[in-house]
Amino acid sequence: MDSHDRTPSLSLIHGSAGALSALADGSVQLIVTSPPYPMIPQWDAIFLAQGAADYDAMHDLLEGAWREAFRVLAPGAVLAVVVGDALRSIDGGFRLWPNHSEVLSRATRCGFVPLPYVLWKKPTNKPNAFLGSGFLPPNAYVTIDCEFVLLFRRGGLRRFPPHDAARYASRFSRPERDHWFSQIWSDIRGAAQVRDGRRTGAFPAEIPRRLVRMFSVKGDTVLDPFAGTGTTVWTALALGRSAIGVERDDATYARLQAEAARRGLMEVSGGSPEEDWPSAPRTTSGRRSPR
Ligand SMILES: C[S@@+](CC[C@H](N)C(=O)[O-])C[C@H]1O[C@@H](n2cnc3c(N)ncnc32)[C@H](O)[C@@H]1O
Repeated sequence: MDSHDRTPSLSLIHGSAGALSALADGSVQLIVTSPPYPMIPQWDAIFLAQGAADYDAMHDLLEGAWREAFRVLAPGAVLAVVVGDALRSIDGGFRLWPNHSEVLSRATRCGFVPLPYVLWKKPTNKPNAFLGSGFLPPNAYVTIDCEFVLLFRRGGLRRFPPHDAARYASRFSRPERDHWFSQIWSDIRGAAQVRDGRRTGAFPAEIPRRLVRMFSVKGDTVLDPFAGTGTTVWTALALGRSAIGVERDDATYARLQAEAARRGLMEVSGGSPEEDWPSAPRTTSGRRSPR
């Protein structure tokens, strides 16, 4: 049986993106993720709970995740990070916190090759949203309405045998190629941000759907180390890829497990975020995940 014909498996890990000891070096073919965004108030408490109280410390924490991403990705595999910049006043000074440039330089420092990125420009009902007062220069601000889909590769190009069946079974169409590989995506609306009364920071499924089709082949394993509601995980499975989701927050992790059960995916995992994983989590099929 070809690798792309196998039933995709799911693995959920209740743990931290910066400590993926359950996953073997080079065992993942694509990461699609969106971390908590530094300096966006929604994520302050989550950063603080992990000892990160300011911008630099928040990015130090995320850098640990990029380091682990580099370790678990196979040569030639892609890391896709969806991140937005923040605007915030600290000590009375209003300024931009350029998360995208921080992630770009820190992931590159971890060894990744930076690639051309996508600007996800969200369609808005308020095209003239404006920060500032009146119509007088010079003290108004440009509206932030783009997020970044930063793309990195681990080393050189990924190699396949000639006429590789999984690769050919995963091809995209010419219109898909022309659209997806353009630098601005302006046709994707943001996802609902509140579920069950909680803010999620979820991205719409179309983002991982494109990225999974662009940068992996059927039968690959796709990881989201900041899984949240699991958008990447469910999308990857639907596209014939195995999926691994890592989530630190207890309640969010419990929801992921409940959603897996609701979908009939009998994933089994365990542990707590503080534990260093003594053994690999089991997958849908009861197999251990790759080491
Ligand atoms: C922006 S949200 C991800 C949303 C996700 N893309 C979705 O569509 O639902 C970031 C997630 O990372 C989780 N998180 C924060 N710190 C983490 C860490 N160190 N390791 C793993 N997950 C973490 C948060 O609890 C949150 O669920």
